[in-house]
Amino acid sequence: MSKTQPLDPETIIKYETDHVLYPWTHQKGLKPFVAEKGKGNYIYGADGRKYLDFSAQFVFSNLGHSDDRVVKAIADQAAKLPSVNSQWATEPKARLGKLLSDITPGDLTKSFFSTGGTEANEGAMKIARLVTGKQKIISRYRAYHGSTYGSMSMSAEFRNWAYEPAVPGVLHCLEPYCYRCPFGATYPACDLRCAQHVEDVICREGGARRVAAFIAEPIMGPGGIIVPPDGYWQRVREICTKHEIILIADEVMTGFGRTGKWFGVEHWNVVPDVLTTAKGITSGYMPLGATCVRKWVADKFEEIPYLHGHTYSGHTLAMAAAVATIDAYRQDDLINNSAKMGEYLKVKMHELQDKHPSVGEVRGKGLFCGMELVKSRKTREPSHEALMEPPRPVSTKMKIIGKMMQEGVYILAGAASVLMLTPPLSITKDEIDHAMSVVDKALEISDAEYKD
Ligand SMILES: Cc1ncc(COP(=O)(O)O)c(C=O)c1O
Repeated sequence: MSKTQPLDPETIIKYETDHVLYPWTHQKGLKPFVAEKGKGNYIYGADGRKYLDFSAQFVFSNLGHSDDRVVKAIADQAAKLPSVNSQWATEPKARLGKLLSDITPGDLTKSFFSTGGTEANEGAMKIARLVTGKQKIISRYRAYHGSTYGSMSMSAEFRNWAYEPAVPGVLHCLEPYCYRCPFGATYPACDLRCAQHVEDVICREGGARRVAAFIAEPIMGPGGIIVPPDGYWQRVREICTKHEIILIADEVMTGFGRTGKWFGVEHWNVVPDVLTTAKGITSGYMPLGATCVRKWVADKFEEIPYLHGHTYSGHTLAMAAAVATIDAYRQDDLINNSAKMGEYLKVKMHELQDKHPSVGEVRGKGLFCGMELVKSRKTREPSHEALMEPPRPVSTKMKIIGKMMQEGVYILAGAASVLMLTPPLSITKDEIDHAMSVVDKALEISDAEYKD
């Protein structure tokens, strides 16, 4: 077989299932979708069909697919200088460092570059320990921060269990999940017990003397698009300052316009000490993560060495892709489009909630939206207990996703009993109408399992 001879879809599937290990799933019986090309908000399959991408893949294609400006920036850079060692300076790295310092909130002035969200969080964890000399990190149940030992230890669900104990000194507290409040309280009468709980755990773990950092996603993504109550982030910021603890905001999913602002923490006017990001930074065109730090954190490394790095830190092609992506977000005003289209999507989600009993709650900000599926609105029993096991092909949610795929619309199966609606930021009203008409039909599947 010559190298250039195209492979037919069956051969692609055979080679892949014979020779590639697929992440996060049983390998038996896999029949992956074969993607051929992408353009704008659409993916074209090897089956000859066109699919509306209502997921932005793993919530990274914020710009849509095959944007000419980013493709050209990568090609031009590849022709000139594809990569150099991470201790040399390049024009795209200089530009990106400056751009991030401009668009991130407050005085987050310096960034360390890696190749994805996991590594960005791994870097944040090390920075917190290096800078404070303390060990303990507090995270939250239902969080997902990545798949290597450090970032995984800060996550909290079934995907960790086979590897535990992971990194010692990482503890978890309860999440601010109003629909299923772990404190049995109701906002606003609760006076933010979820935030008070963060302080209680910090104090019991030794407070300023022992705790290095608290890490949280501004809006929990894979855990179920969980939007914290207003005031939570402000209170958490105060608590971290009071106890001299580094506040890390994991903006891997929420960054780059996903929630209708450049970064999720901006909804609550909070400046974390460390902000991690990836995905939308290049819209997935190149693998890239960034760990951005405030000036006071960066200044520490004037005195002590920054003992962390990768061969591909600041990879030149990734830098060029990120600069072109951020320019494109600005040119096309996509951050505002995310806010506007997000409002429209929310109206549509509410209409479906009125019509379908199995939709327990709808929530989100910008184009980071979710519909929580329940078997009963009275008991709020979830359609499946997602934190305990991977979604199975027979689960209600996977059946819904399969049905939607048949209708030409792709949405993501997150790790919760929630349909994630996270299209590219370039999505239009007509495309939202179309996707939601497909969701409407597919929800008959969850309604059929509804018990009340
Ligand atoms: C909030 C959050 N943090 C970290 C990660 C890990 O990022 P990556 O898969 O790029 O390593 C993810 C991935 O989905 C994520 O959603």
